[in-house]
Amino acid sequence: MAEAKKFYITTPIYYVNARPHIGHAYTTLTCDAIARRKRMLGCDTFFLTGTDEHGVHVERAATAARTPPQPWVDNISADFRRLFDKMGISYDDFIRTTEPRHKRGAQELWKRIQENGHIYKGTYTGQYCVFDEAYVDGAKPGDPCPDCGRPTETVSEENYYFKLSAFAGQLLNYYEQHPEFIRPETRRNEVIAFVKSGLRDLSISRSTFKWGIPVPGDDKHVMYVWLDALSNYCTAIGFGAEDQAGQEKFKRYWPADVHMIGKEIIRFHCVYWPAFLLAAGLPLPKAVIAHGWLLFEESKMSKSRGNIVRAETVIDVLGNDALRYFLLREIVFGHDGSFSFDAVVQRYNADLANDLGNLSSRTLTMIARYFGGAVPYPSATAGYKPADDSVRQHAETAISEFGKLFDDYQFSRALEAAWSLVSSVNKYLVEQEPWSVAEKPGEEGRARLATILYTAAEALRVVTALVHPVLPESTARIWQQLGLGEISRFDLTGLKWGQMPLGGKLGAIEPVFPRADKTAIERMKQMEQDRTAALNIAQPTQSSSGGASAVPAPAATPAAPVAAVPDSKISIDDFMKVELRVGQVKAAEKVKGADRLLRLEVDIGTEVRQVVAGIALAYEPESLIGRKVVIVANLQPRKLRGLESNGMIVAASVGEEGKPVLAGFLEDVPVGSKLK
Ligand code: MSP
Repeated sequence: MAEAKKFYITTPIYYVNARPHIGHAYTTLTCDAIARRKRMLGCDTFFLTGTDEHGVHVERAATAARTPPQPWVDNISADFRRLFDKMGISYDDFIRTTEPRHKRGAQELWKRIQENGHIYKGTYTGQYCVFDEAYVDGAKPGDPCPDCGRPTETVSEENYYFKLSAFAGQLLNYYEQHPEFIRPETRRNEVIAFVKSGLRDLSISRSTFKWGIPVPGDDKHVMYVWLDALSNYCTAIGFGAEDQAGQEKFKRYWPADVHMIGKEIIRFHCVYWPAFLLAAGLPLPKAVIAHGWLLFEESKMSKSRGNIVRAETVIDVLGNDALRYFLLREIVFGHDGSFSFDAVVQRYNADLANDLGNLSSRTLTMIARYFGGAVPYPSATAGYKPADDSVRQHAETAISEFGKLFDDYQFSRALEAAWSLVSSVNKYLVEQEPWSVAEKPGEEGRARLATILYTAAEALRVVTALVHPVLPESTARIWQQLGLGEISRFDLTGLKWGQMPLGGKLGAIEPVFPRADKTAIERMKQMEQDRTAALNIAQPTQSSSGGASAVPAPAATPAAPVAAVPDSKISIDDFMKVELRVGQVKAAEKVKGADRLLRLEVDIGTEVRQVVAGIALAYEPESLIGRKVVIVANLQPRKLRGLESNGMIVAASVGEEGKPVLAGFLEDVPVGSKLK
């Protein structure tokens, strides 16, 4: 037997500075759907995800929480893993960059690049903003920092540099010879233009903080977080392993077939990463696929904008498959797309509860009622009509179209092709009226009924097999109900019309997609509001560039390129827009029907405000009377459980459960004082 083709797919590894949201879930579930289809096609598939845990921002966040970095990252990494497990993600490994296997592998990669002569030590002298901990490109001595306005200082620093500039030609060749390396095409053009505009050497070490992987042979420096992070794709499958099994695994799976990423990190994956690999003498990945952003309320969903939605909210109300179907059907892959609770419920009811749900329950219930639950034999002689044949043809088209489109990352169109089959079978049933045919006495009517229900069941089987990678839970149940056993064992390569075992016994029939009622949207919105109130905390953010701009290249070579980071840092002006004041709690009580919420009356000097805060699990109302707190005083009012909340109490979110601990002062401070 021929050896199974290998297929290695990765998600980005996620920063542990923020709790996971549906933006992260989107990338991961897309990879999961691809991995599941590859497995059904018989590929030896390896699917990797994980967390990116080093860098100055993590170090700072942990320090601010008075926690050493390791427990801090353990906590958030566990959150990602818990979410992916809850989502039923079929990852084969979950890599963490703080694991010894990763550190060893990343250092090995560094050594190879260094041995090949592509790393040098250089000194950079520039204007440095101590407050922002960043060099200011192009500033002269005495110039102020453009971000915070504070004076910059002249600083010299010695760092290790990677000769990125030497790889421009090889990279351009690779893009040219492998047009499939960067998808979609627009991103490919951007990357090519960027490389053609000239590459600058890249600073790949930092000596201003400690939370990272020590540079081999010089532990005063830690590795640049992106070199550390990107190497996960190799270290997770055994690169740098001392044992034979690890080395074999690396040989088997490297190079990766697909690195799936969000569009904001394309340069890191399409310029830096292939250059590091070329420098180390390793083969390059076959494809980097960049998807668009999930928008919520018109802007990119991100923690710093405060407009995130948790995947759990949708999953708890509508189920895993509803979230997967919505994101893959509604968003044109590669483009930005909007998320809204209304749209997700509408899609769920229309396509799943109505279309697929109805097809399945009607067909199966009628087979149970009219044929005692055994799949009927179609009759080739009696009662045969062209409509039956057109369902078959439609199913055959769906099989080839779905595969072509899905394998070309056009998930939305692939699902459209599958749903076009679902609709046409529903229409076929309405037109053929099996319920009326069943009323007719005699052999002919019986034969016709058998043909109709066989045709519908066979089409249902085809659709179920096709969309299993997208809807793994519900299709597994439909498959069982069709009496076909375990769907994950099904060999998709052989899918064709006419394989339904005739006379086969159906399993127990039960509805797969219960209709979402009117309260579903409200329940999801309420869950998100309660969560926001419960967290009640501004966590530190980390830029997508992981501090790439913190140390530019030496003066001899121009500054290192940095991908645009749209949502990482705010200016001092933005910060000053937030009005923080000292308040004093005058009254406090529990909110009926909400375990986590307290209603507080807080004196902020100029007035007494009603604030609803998610701190009831941590504080008894009486213990708060007279306590000085910090309040965000210029937030737009919002309703929580019908109560207007006029401000937000500032608290730290501590430990795995995010226990709120109120911010306060050691000295006595007058009520109404401003914080800045
Ligand atoms: N740690 C780096 C990646 C290193 S890979 C070697 C990083 N992490 S991240 O936590 O910021 O996650 C980035 C990825 O999460 C994005 O590339 C994207 O896949 C996903 N998304 C995060 N927010 C998203 C949206 N709002 N919309 C779509 N995807 C989003 O960058």
